[in-house]
Amino acid sequence: MKFFVDTADTAEIADLAATGMVDGVTTNPSLIKKSGRDIMEVTKEICGLTDGPVSAEVVALDHETMLKEAEVLRKIADNVCIKVPLTIDGLKTCKALTSEGTMVNVTLCFSANQALLAAKAGASFISPFVGRHDDNGFDGMKLIDDIRLIYDNYAYETEILVASIRHPIHVLESARIGADVATMPPSVIRNLFKHILTDKGIEGFLADWKDTGQQIG
Ligand code: E4P
Repeated sequence: MKFFVDTADTAEIADLAATGMVDGVTTNPSLIKKSGRDIMEVTKEICGLTDGPVSAEVVALDHETMLKEAEVLRKIADNVCIKVPLTIDGLKTCKALTSEGTMVNVTLCFSANQALLAAKAGASFISPFVGRHDDNGFDGMKLIDDIRLIYDNYAYETEILVASIRHPIHVLESARIGADVATMPPSVIRNLFKHILTDKGIEGFLADWKDTGQQIG
């Protein structure tokens, strides 16, 4: 399972990349705003921090302008993945870009039928938003389960990129279902490392080790 970091904070990305757990990065207009930086400049820096796909989102709503924005964004680096919304124009843009070999992440997916459309449009990644789904009284993980079943039924190669992840249980469930990628805020990735019994175990071992009076090396 691949782990992407869902942030435009380059310090966080660099720090997490050093753990070896980062396979790519996702951004969106809200995350660019949060970074306070220029989209071109910050995306270029992020692309230098990982060899994996870095999603950069278009903001136009019509196909022609989406294509123009995608052209600008994909020139930033070879590992830029163009993010388009799940609309008719977004999927037209997806089809055009993937046909010529550009990676595309179709975002703001809230139904299995939408995910089916994205696969038919040749999307490299589909981003179902599980957290926002849960927030509105739907079952986010059921959506992932349905998309996995449908993609497997037809051997679609579109990767399921679970987005809007709020906590480690979303990651666990995504892995159980067989999602291809989980994109997580830095805090969620850090929480995956933690267990109270690991901390207690280290504490106990170090206390006993101190009593032995020994040193290694
Ligand atoms: C994914 O690509 C999105 O940027 C992100 O996961 C949205 O998450 P949110 O619902 O926490 O804003």
